[in-house]
Amino acid sequence: MPAGFLWGTATAAHQVEGGNENNDWWDWEQTTGHIKDGSRSGLACDHFRRYQDDFQLLADLGQNAHRLSIEWSRVEPHPGQFDAEALAHYRRVLETMRALGLEPVVTLHHFTNPRWLAQQGAWTRPEVVDAFGRFVERVVRAYRDLVRFWITVNEPNIYASLGFATGEWPPGARDMLLAFRVLRHMVLAHGRAYQVIHREQPEARVSLAHHLRVFDPDRPAHRLDIWTARARDALFNRSILVALRDGRLRPPLGWGERIPELVGSLDYVGVNYYSRDRLAFDPLSPHRLFAREVRRECPRNACGWEIYPEGLYRVVRQAAEFGPVLITENGTADQDDELRPAYLLSHVRQLGQAVQDGLPVLGYLHWSSMDNFEWAQGFRMRFGLVHVDFATQERRVKPSGELYARICRAGGLTPDLLALAEARSA
Ligand code: FCB
Repeated sequence: MPAGFLWGTATAAHQVEGGNENNDWWDWEQTTGHIKDGSRSGLACDHFRRYQDDFQLLADLGQNAHRLSIEWSRVEPHPGQFDAEALAHYRRVLETMRALGLEPVVTLHHFTNPRWLAQQGAWTRPEVVDAFGRFVERVVRAYRDLVRFWITVNEPNIYASLGFATGEWPPGARDMLLAFRVLRHMVLAHGRAYQVIHREQPEARVSLAHHLRVFDPDRPAHRLDIWTARARDALFNRSILVALRDGRLRPPLGWGERIPELVGSLDYVGVNYYSRDRLAFDPLSPHRLFAREVRRECPRNACGWEIYPEGLYRVVRQAAEFGPVLITENGTADQDDELRPAYLLSHVRQLGQAVQDGLPVLGYLHWSSMDNFEWAQGFRMRFGLVHVDFATQERRVKPSGELYARICRAGGLTPDLLALAEARSA
């Protein structure tokens, strides 16, 4: 891998910190049925208090970078009022990371909204762009001496789909047009944040964390299946990247209008990659763009997502058209760490191939450092390299965590790890 390659892990505030009582997810969790296993984020991993030990462990495991998010509801608990204590807390967090040699990659919005913002309609209203810009300005002024890599928003496409189309996440809406409006506001907010960050810190490197999913036609030679998969790719994956490069809002973001704030607003491309969907044309699903997901027999994780390592290569190639790529998330739900070691090897191998083929890759951040609160799935879905006993808060490094340490220390797959990867995939 190239010099300076980032090897690390990723988390989000609400999933690990605990005690985030002032946001919309906290409220959502209180209603029975919203979280599949009946859990609530509660104390989560108590990372808000244990961050020093947690970061020490990651550094001991050979990692040199870590992605985390700043919880908006802590920093701005009331509109326009910033909390000095919370700002001081994240300063200590970032200083600790720096002292341990962990390069911070900082996300400014990772799914949760302050309660006051949610009450104002949050991302459904255009005013959110100004509100987000104000928050970002404050945060960047506070930490520009400590942070180089910023991520404005995490996965606008997933946020809009689950919160506003399927209704599985807060606010639980089921309205495709509203989902498109939310998506548009997130893209505009990215543009605003990009400009604010660069004004405050010209040398900053700014991106979003974009969820890229592979969509393949279920019947590879079937013209309508091909069309369906391409349409989904254009709307879900590509439209956002095009908007952030050219400034043009194409459907579903808009009707082609050009927004100057968005032009060239990616210094690198943060990519979250997990899985692929196989799509078949279905005339009975106009509301799903005539696509039906086909579930073929194939390796799947605990969430039922297909495990498809080649997809990582494919999304890196797709994203590289828009800038150097940083893998900001990649990982799998696996209760007993049975799948994760092979998952890790096969995905890192694909990444190595991408680099060998000349694609620009800045780093790989595995989701996640430790088991945590997996949104509507609750604590049942374990994505960590480190096991967390949520009753005692005890951490235990899993075999995959040890394996990842070997990869990080070697800076990639050594011949013996490569042999292991080949044996596992055979
Ligand atoms: C991504 C989210 C992240 C985590 C993983 C499993 O969509 O960004 O917070 O939940 O999925």
